[in-house]
Amino acid sequence: MDEAFERFNASLSMDRRLILEDIEGSMAYAEALEQAGVLSPQELRRIQEGLGEIRDRAQRDRGFLAEAKDEDVHSFVEARLVEIIGEAGMKLHTGRSRNDQVALDTRLFLKKAIGQVQQGLKGLMGELLGQARRHRDLVIPGYTHLRKAQPILLAHYLLAWFEMFSRDRDRFEDCFRRTDCMPLGAGALAGNAFGVDREALRKKLNFSRITSNSLDAVSDRDYLVDFVGAGSLTLVHLSRLAEDLIFFSTPECGWIELSDEVTTGSSLMPQKKNPDSLELLRGKSGRVIGNLTRLLVLLKGLPLTYNKDLQEDKEALFDTLDTLLDCLQVAQAVVRTLEVDAGAARKALEGDFMTATDLADYLVRKGMPFREAHGLVGRIVLECEGRQIGLSELPLSRYREFSSLFAEDLFQALSVRHGIEARSVPGGTAPERVAEALSRAEQSLTLQNPSERGTSV
Ligand code: ARG
Repeated sequence: MDEAFERFNASLSMDRRLILEDIEGSMAYAEALEQAGVLSPQELRRIQEGLGEIRDRAQRDRGFLAEAKDEDVHSFVEARLVEIIGEAGMKLHTGRSRNDQVALDTRLFLKKAIGQVQQGLKGLMGELLGQARRHRDLVIPGYTHLRKAQPILLAHYLLAWFEMFSRDRDRFEDCFRRTDCMPLGAGALAGNAFGVDREALRKKLNFSRITSNSLDAVSDRDYLVDFVGAGSLTLVHLSRLAEDLIFFSTPECGWIELSDEVTTGSSLMPQKKNPDSLELLRGKSGRVIGNLTRLLVLLKGLPLTYNKDLQEDKEALFDTLDTLLDCLQVAQAVVRTLEVDAGAARKALEGDFMTATDLADYLVRKGMPFREAHGLVGRIVLECEGRQIGLSELPLSRYREFSSLFAEDLFQALSVRHGIEARSVPGGTAPERVAEALSRAEQSLTLQNPSERGTSV
């Protein structure tokens, strides 16, 4: 081989992360070969001992894989096996191809990876719930268009993120279900010619189904697209959360303070406390979205069945996994250590006419059509703005000049509490609804998903 091409062709530096899965698959495959009469019981035993030795050494000795010159992890394991046990090792690859082998290894790896991501998501969701419980009654400004809109409970706000991450969990579970399908026995593309028992392999390797078409089995990477797609959306969610928290912790808002544990100083300005953790969370989404594009472009136009292009899939997988796990851990630390400043939150609710809708609703309850009430309250807001006063500082007599429907009880309607309590539809910010949502959320976190058990059967 040309030296440059040899380097170009090799993937060991990347796919060595699959060594444990590769050995697990080979152990099971050796059993299947023995059952099929290809290996004698002694040969099976020697192969399993040899593979065990390689696994132990790989776990103990970092240099073992790092210094090896083999093309990929599959060739590495086979070569070491032959070195250790001799001829019997040369029989292991009977009827198998690296094509079905790499598909198996990747699926085994991904199934575990999804379980880890789910743990990370749960960890973050647990912290969001913890903060929501801690500040059950606190009211903050809710925003649309990045302008103060209506008061909401902080717990309601935090539970919105909980919802997003719940959907992420669903998506990863979906991805798990599709990954949980055993490809070994597909051979290079046409199927195994030695009659290995694929059902037995499935059970041994803890999959819930076997792939049903050998061509598809060796060329399918949809499960990676699913994973990186789900990961991209999770990162988009984290990036939006980061943006909000950056904003809420600015001195201009200030009802959230980030802990020193997740902020940095400036090398020049002694007074600075910068939200680097959040900025990196926001920035990391680009990486994973890039990985998604990379996989989609890799697969687009690729003919059936296996093509070496597919070797490029692993970097996208590993980078996405590492990035996701890091981001979830950091986001968890940020949320866990958040301090909430109730005084700043109260101040933020003043003076921005955030209860103007409640005033219009008040008129509606007294019989005025909403559109008319909307226009009238708009004019009242304009007047208050001109006089630089809040809605509750305008005297009743002046209100009554706008409409005779106004009475003393209008000031009650203007209270923040009143507006919050009025929004009591399911999914609204009223305290009793938020309390229900909190206990539902708590319950959902105690459920264990198939991916956390490692199998959907
Ligand atoms: N290293 C290869 C990969 O990751 C393994 C499969 C190689 N198969 C082949 N026919 N060259 O895709």
